[in-house]
Amino acid sequence: MKKLLMIPGPTPVDRRIQDEMGRETIAFGDASFVADFKEVIAQLKSLFDCSGEVFVVSGSGTLAMEMAAANVTKPEDNVLIISHGYFGDRFVEIFEHKKRNADVLRCEWGEIVPLDEIKAALDAKKYAAVVVTHVDTATGVMAPVAEIGKLVKSYDDTMFIVDGVCATAGIEEKVDSMGIDILLTGSQKAFGVAPGLALLWASKAAMARRESLGVIPEYYCDFDKWLPIMHDPSKYFATPPVNMIWALQESIAIINEETIEGRYARHIKNAKAMQAALETLGFRILANPDYRAYTLSNVIYPEGTDDAQFRKILAEEGVQVAGGLGPYAGKMFRLGHMGNIDDHDMVSVIAAIERTMKRCGMEVEFGKGVGCLMNALA
Ligand SMILES: Cc1ncc(COP(=O)(O)O)c(C=O)c1O
Repeated sequence: MKKLLMIPGPTPVDRRIQDEMGRETIAFGDASFVADFKEVIAQLKSLFDCSGEVFVVSGSGTLAMEMAAANVTKPEDNVLIISHGYFGDRFVEIFEHKKRNADVLRCEWGEIVPLDEIKAALDAKKYAAVVVTHVDTATGVMAPVAEIGKLVKSYDDTMFIVDGVCATAGIEEKVDSMGIDILLTGSQKAFGVAPGLALLWASKAAMARRESLGVIPEYYCDFDKWLPIMHDPSKYFATPPVNMIWALQESIAIINEETIEGRYARHIKNAKAMQAALETLGFRILANPDYRAYTLSNVIYPEGTDDAQFRKILAEEGVQVAGGLGPYAGKMFRLGHMGNIDDHDMVSVIAAIERTMKRCGMEVEFGKGVGCLMNALA
């Protein structure tokens, strides 16, 4: 049976994107590659409303997180981290590792930290940066980025860092108009490219902050090292991942064919349909409905379900999902529905879940989830 990759990243890689990865590699100084890389940078600026700079480097999302911390904060700076789960907590580790003073606002998994709590923290202390995960993949909670951005911008000289790893290119993000100073992601999520690229957008204010820091201890992570290459990709700092840049270029072409607004709308529609179908089948979604992500669903099993057995059988039925993290390990599965997936994939996922329920001895009426999904998609 064909296996659909429905974990929260990597996501299915479209044949067109795979073909770019399979092309014969050429010199990174080749004029045609330089032109392609330039076009990728320009497109990323315009699609995400960034009048500052864009960085595309070999690495994963975690490298982009570290790059954010390294380039707009310095040791002893106060940093406010709004953590909605596992990946918010990863930021705490990164900042503490770099000797920043990290204050953390947390809440129950599935909820968000209220805006007035963030405001109270900002009123009480001067912060060099505020950090939030747009969608925490561990909880499926979506932070109100635009509202937090507006709040943060009412405080002078505080950078707003957004981890978009599980959101960017699937949920609307605009760097300039949402008050974002650093937006970061990896290629393997809503862009639908294979893992391997770290992407980062920096506002003009973030670039000014970088300049004010002078020499920083990081080398590969340093904006100053990469900026000349992002302006003129014929220059060398570290070898660019030629085929991955082409893959990203193709992913951007796919986004432009759909339009970025159409892509965001599709993610909303798919998420609502998927979540309604899962609830009809007796599952529960962890995130509060007011803050539910459009890119993945964190699905709590009915009482008595054996997680390992369920996910093993679901994989045999053709759909690969991920397990729950932290307190939800064994109680939940995580289903990605971001990037380049279509109605065929959506229906196949719910049908495979129904077959799996039957094989696990759970109560299920065939077609109930599929019918609900199809009605929601129609
Ligand atoms: C929200 C979020 N942030 C950061 C990361 C880390 O990204 P990577 O695994 O590409 O290093 C992930 C990975 O799943 C994530 O979901």
